[in-house]
Amino acid sequence: MNKKLLKVNHLSVRFHTPEGVARAVDGVSFEIKPCQTLALVGESGCGKSITSLSIMGLLPVSGRIHAGRILFDGQNLPDSDSEEMRRIRGRDISMIFQEPMTSLNPVLTIGRQVAEPLMIHNNFSKAEAYSKALIWLNRVRIPDAEKRMNDYPHRLSGGMRQRVMIAMAMVCQPRLLIADEPTTALDVTIQAQILSLMVSLKEKLNMSVLLITHDLGVVAQMAEKVVVMYAGQVVEEAGVTDLFERPFHPYTQGLLKSAPRFGTLRSARTGRLSEIPGTVPRLTRIITGCKFAERCPSSFSLCRERPGIFEVREGQYVRCWLGDA
Ligand SMILES: Nc1ncnc2c1ncn2[C@@H]1O[C@H](COP(=O)(O)OP(=O)(O)O)[C@@H](O)[C@H]1O
Ligand SMILES: [Mg+2]
Repeated sequence: MNKKLLKVNHLSVRFHTPEGVARAVDGVSFEIKPCQTLALVGESGCGKSITSLSIMGLLPVSGRIHAGRILFDGQNLPDSDSEEMRRIRGRDISMIFQEPMTSLNPVLTIGRQVAEPLMIHNNFSKAEAYSKALIWLNRVRIPDAEKRMNDYPHRLSGGMRQRVMIAMAMVCQPRLLIADEPTTALDVTIQAQILSLMVSLKEKLNMSVLLITHDLGVVAQMAEKVVVMYAGQVVEEAGVTDLFERPFHPYTQGLLKSAPRFGTLRSARTGRLSEIPGTVPRLTRIITGCKFAERCPSSFSLCRERPGIFEVREGQYVRCWLGDA
């Protein structure tokens, strides 16, 4: 199957700040096929969440899509009006956030919150929606789900709330799920349970997933394709095995070099992104050459010019002059 479900094409998002224009997303392109899981990785502040909020049509008010297209099933999402975006968000694309309390409504029972999308988007009656909600709360393994239907979110643990949010996100069977750091706020054993739950539901529902994470273990476990971002740009794109076994971009290599030992998919399961000396440049600064050059151990004179994108192996692309062989 070669058709694309989502095609992000030269997306640029800018914020107007007192310090100047911040190029939060600076010409980002990637594609997700039906049923594919793509991981978006990179240090904090590199534009991952802003990319996903652009897709959802939920940018903060000070942010603007400056250029580019976001094609979902051929339709350019930024051209859709707010009514249409609401429909798409409920039915076709849904999102799971890091902190479930920001998306759960504290004054509604969890049963109602899982049932509501079905009443709004699928014309379910109240009774039908509530019985489907119960099925979903069981599916995400909320213990005693029937009783829990009447609870308010504050009565649940963080891990249970995240399960409720997954149920809410999946109940309308979206074609694309965006998960932004879905397990970061949870402790390690709960993280593993939530992840395996997501993997099994993903397979059952045949959805595509855009997974945002800085946890390489999560990437290794879930993703087929990986896009690495740095300072608002994509610097490398590769299949998951190539990325772990033959990372090309010096930034990707730096990320993977974390303790205890990387280089294989298996060892990646336990690790997180390592620290790279130096800091990400301020996004209001205009950099004409490679944005990573000042932190790059391999930089050379050409890096003062903006690097093109080179295919270094089949399906593996880098924004780096070293790829120009
Ligand atoms: N509300 C905002 N106002 C101004 N700038 C913002 C805002 N939100 C994000 N940004 C800018 O966008 C950049 C990317 O943010 P984000 O996408 O949240 O990064 P991350 O990769 O950690 O998810 C930030 O470094 C910041 O400069
Ligand atoms: Mg983020």
